Amino acid sequence: MNFDNFILVKHPLISHKLTFIRDEKTSKKEFKELVDEVAMLMAYEITRDFPLEEVTIKTPICETKSNILSGKKVALVPILRAGLGMVDGILKLIPSARVGHIGLYRDEKTLKPVSYYFKIPSDTDNREFILIDPMLATGGSASAAVDMLKKAGAKSIKFMCLIAAPEGVEKLCSSHPDVKVYAAALDEKLNEKGYIVPGLGDAGDRLFGTK
Ligand code: URA
Repeated sequence: MNFDNFILVKHPLISHKLTFIRDEKTSKKEFKELVDEVAMLMAYEITRDFPLEEVTIKTPICETKSNILSGKKVALVPILRAGLGMVDGILKLIPSARVGHIGLYRDEKTLKPVSYYFKIPSDTDNREFILIDPMLATGGSASAAVDMLKKAGAKSIKFMCLIAAPEGVEKLCSSHPDVKVYAAALDEKLNEKGYIVPGLGDAGDRLFGTK
């Protein structure tokens, strides 16, 4: 994919865990645990450009200078409902992050995403927003969710997913070139039902056991 704002997060642990996430034999419990683990590993990469500031502290031995995170605070925004499955893993690394939620459904006539829930932290200027959805399929919902975040005042937005389809990357990266899009895998295509191939099936159903 030839988009400057598309980042494939490559790591042997992520590839290994993703194989078990994809496998239909993986239980609901293991699926959720693995999704959290991959989300945590991805968060490590996504936060790589976070700025640091030097502070002075005292160890039990002496005074020293050391770095802490500075700059914007983080807001995680899962797109309901599958996005919820990745939140716990990221919170393990960034426990102080606030969590907003965006609920979208697809209108059967227009096929366009319609918002039914939107709640994010109000200090939008001072937040780094990480929008979360495990599957970037057509890119319609993700793109609409970014539109909503921007309309609410968000200035800095990243998007993360486990698996992206080329169609979704094209849509999201071209409609929002200022948003960095992170995926653990880029799959082949969408099938006629809108599922990513080979994908992992329905992420929400596998997370919540609703199949
Ligand atoms: N949403 C899913 O849960 N799975 C897909 O393959 C595509 C969209």
